[in-house]
This record gives sequence, structure tokens and C-alpha cells, in this order.
Amino acid sequence: ETVEWDPNDAGKGGYDHYMLKEIYEQPTALRQTIRGRSNQLDGRVELEELPPGAFSDVRSVHLVAMGTSYHAAMYAQTLLAERGITAQAFLSGEYGSNPPPADDGTLVIAVSQSGETADTLSAIRSVQGTGAHTLALTNVVGSTLTRECEDTVYIRAGPEIGVAATKSFSAQVATLILLSERLSRDVRGGTPAATGDLLDALSVLPDDVQRVLDESTAESVAKAYHDSESYFFIGRGIGHPVALEGALKFKEITYDHAEGFSAAELKHGPLALVTDQTPVFAVFTGRNDTKTLHNVKEVRARDAPVVAVAADGYREVDDYADHVLRVPDTHHDVAGILANVQLQLVSYLAADELSRPIDKPRNLAKSVTVE
Ligand code: G6P
Repeated sequence: ETVEWDPNDAGKGGYDHYMLKEIYEQPTALRQTIRGRSNQLDGRVELEELPPGAFSDVRSVHLVAMGTSYHAAMYAQTLLAERGITAQAFLSGEYGSNPPPADDGTLVIAVSQSGETADTLSAIRSVQGTGAHTLALTNVVGSTLTRECEDTVYIRAGPEIGVAATKSFSAQVATLILLSERLSRDVRGGTPAATGDLLDALSVLPDDVQRVLDESTAESVAKAYHDSESYFFIGRGIGHPVALEGALKFKEITYDHAEGFSAAELKHGPLALVTDQTPVFAVFTGRNDTKTLHNVKEVRARDAPVVAVAADGYREVDDYADHVLRVPDTHHDVAGILANVQLQLVSYLAADELSRPIDKPRNLAKSVTVE
């Protein structure tokens, strides 16, 4: 008797696709990301590669990245701004060709899962000679980016095969939360007031993600909404990059039109497209939720189906959403990671309903090594 097997399936560990396997690996990946890096007793963040005070001269931060990594960079921009640090996220493909002013007070953080994205390497090369300090935030040990930047912090997500980035986003954001705390201490001195709560929230994040995976109702959402022409994703603050990432994942693997934007933009254009045929995914992260709820009411008034992603404790949304994808109550800064896991599941399950080639979407590559 012979056993039939396809070598391409050997690494999937029983899952139909690498993407699903990698979504489910997130609790393990996040445990690796945060292991040994935060001291909950004294609030210190140890990023092994960087000596204490490594960032004391930093006056502003530029984050450069593409794709999903750019959304993690946008998320970090908000975290740093909350800590009083001037920060801006750039598409590396723009940064390299139109470099903004940088000097020896600038920290340029290149966020790249692969460490091989040509646009991001070129952005880093563009600051050579300016005195700016360069830091690689990547998953791949010894990648080109790590050789071209002065310092490296690894996100420790483990190998990611699916073209659609999933666990690398969660690990990037978790690493950037730690880095934001570290920068805040180095640049501004002392321990930021909320550090204890945040480190506690990070330590339970792997369990919280596991709960989302175990209890998600994304399947009913995917079954209800996989045949619309257009989908919108909205959020504010850290919810904005999560909305963009939700839409990116959705378009990459379902091939349906999906667009993300800040909930604040809604009435400045996108609302013209909202009808009963355009499901709207609204991301709530525990800050400015009332404003986003107001936007939800506006799309409801145009009969759009609404899927909210919201904390267990945020019940105000229940009357205005057709579906609520729940995430555990947690610290605001990590809430976006949990919301994003729900949106990953929706995209995956909708693409699966449509029988799309989820791990290898047409026209896309895992790593884009040409500019
Ligand atoms: C490609 C991939 C995306 C990825 C982006 C940046 O577009 O398809 O999934 O987010 O490159 O890749 P990087 O390796 O730099 O994070």
C-alpha cells in the first residue's frame, strides 16, 4: 500500500493553506517575540541588541516600509506620537526617491518581514551620509537589511510562507510596542506612566489571540459577505492602519475590491460609494470609539451592512452593527493586533468560499526585490 502525499503540503501541518497555519501560529509567534524582552517588575524593556540609552539622542523617527509592514509602521507612528516622540511612517518606495530631511537626530527604522524588499533597502541607502541612525526591524536573520542597517531588532515570528503576511504583522506591531516604550524611556527619561499596564497586556496577548482564534464568529461574516463587489474598512488612530491592513488582505486574496481609510475621511468622499451593496467593516480600539460609532450610523443610514470589530466590553455598538466580531478587553495599544486577527480570519474564510489560490495570489510575490 502506498501513501499519496504532495511535497507542497508537507509543511502545512494539516491546514489547507499556509496562510491559515500562520494565522493559527500567532500565539506561539507572539510568545517568541516578547520572550525575555520586558521586565514587568520595573517596567524596563530590554531589546537585547541595544545598550541602555542607545536612543537618547533621537529627536525624530522615520519609519520606512511597504505593504503590510507599512501598516505596522503607521501603527508605530501613532504609538510614538502618543509618547511625545515625533514620528512619521513613509512608503519606502516614496522615501527613497524623495528623501525628507534627516540628520544625526533622526532614527530611521526599516520595517520589513523579509529584509529584502528593494524599495526599503533603497530608502535606507538614501540616508547614508546624513548622520541618521538606521535600525532594521525584520524577521529574517542575516537578511540584506540587517547588513545595511547599524542595528537590528528581530520580530521572531518564525518562517512565513503565505504571500499574504499575517503573523509577521502581529509580531512587528508587538516588537514596535516594545521599541516605542524603549524609545520613550531613552528619549524622555523615566518610566512612562502606563508602562506597567501595557506590559501586562502584552504578556497576555498570546492568550488573548488564542481566544480570538477559538471563539471567532468570522465564518458567519465570510459566508454572508463574500459576494459583494466592494468592501470598506474604517478605523481611527491605530484602527486606521488596521483598517488598511484589513482591506489589503481582503483584496489580495479574494480579488474583490476592498478599500480602507480613516473613519475621519468617510464624509469627505467615500460616503458617496456607500450603498446596501457595500459591507463596511468598522474597527474599534477603545479610543475615539464614539466618533467611529457616529460614522457607523452614517453608513447604516445608507443601508450598508456593518461588521464591527470591538472589545467585549464595548456594547454601545451592538445596536448599530449586523455582526460584531469580539476581541478581549485589553490595553488600547495592543487592541489593534486583536482586531486585525479577526479581519485576517474574515479575509481567509471569504477567499476560501470563493476557492481562490490563497497562498499564491495572482500577480503578487512574497518578497519584491525590484524597485
Ligand atoms: C510584498 C508582499 C507583502 C509585504 C510587502 C513588504 O508586497 O506581498 O505581503 O507586506 O512585500 O514585504 P517585507 O518583506 O518588506 O515586509
